[in-house]
Amino acid sequence: VLSFVLAFLFGYLCGSIPFGLILTKLAGTQDLRSIGSGNIGATNVLRTGNKGLAAATLLGDMLKGTIAVIVAGHFGGPNAAIAAGVGAFIGHLFPVWLKFKGGKGVATYIGVLLGLFWPAALAFCAIWIAVALIFRYSSLAALVASVVVPVMLFWAQHTALAAVFALMTAALWIMHRANIQRLMNGTEGKIGSK
Ligand code: G3P
Repeated sequence: VLSFVLAFLFGYLCGSIPFGLILTKLAGTQDLRSIGSGNIGATNVLRTGNKGLAAATLLGDMLKGTIAVIVAGHFGGPNAAIAAGVGAFIGHLFPVWLKFKGGKGVATYIGVLLGLFWPAALAFCAIWIAVALIFRYSSLAALVASVVVPVMLFWAQHTALAAVFALMTAALWIMHRANIQRLMNGTEGKIGSK
């Protein structure tokens, strides 16, 4: 139990590093929380017009999840890896440093998945890209891709992991409730527009 809790806390600390905020602050662009959706993720960094910074945010928010999983797995085994992954995802959503107001979790979800079962992470990215190319909504792409993941894990007979990711997908959808509202009334911002 202790290694489980330690892994979760370690994951939480990794996940709570807000790369979008840190990188935009270092680059001296506008405060993310006052532009676009107000979110601290890569999609909103892209709205500052700085593509490189958006890519770096995506990578940082992703890899913090992957690294948490790999390190915890190395020291504590597969269950610790899962605990660290869930911790990282929750850390990104509710970072203590930002009064628990974090991001929507897409990049970290992918990063955790990459560390735990990489084929599903590849599938997520492929679906994300396909939906984004057709509809040009970052949020919609993530919402669709995240539904496929638990199904794929279940199908690959990773039942416990499927259950964990079903809960993470549910959390992802809840975090996107404002986006879902905007998608339904046609006011969601498209990729490439401000
Ligand atoms: O990952 C966040 C993305 O799905 C939506 O971001 O800034 O458009 O709310 P945003």
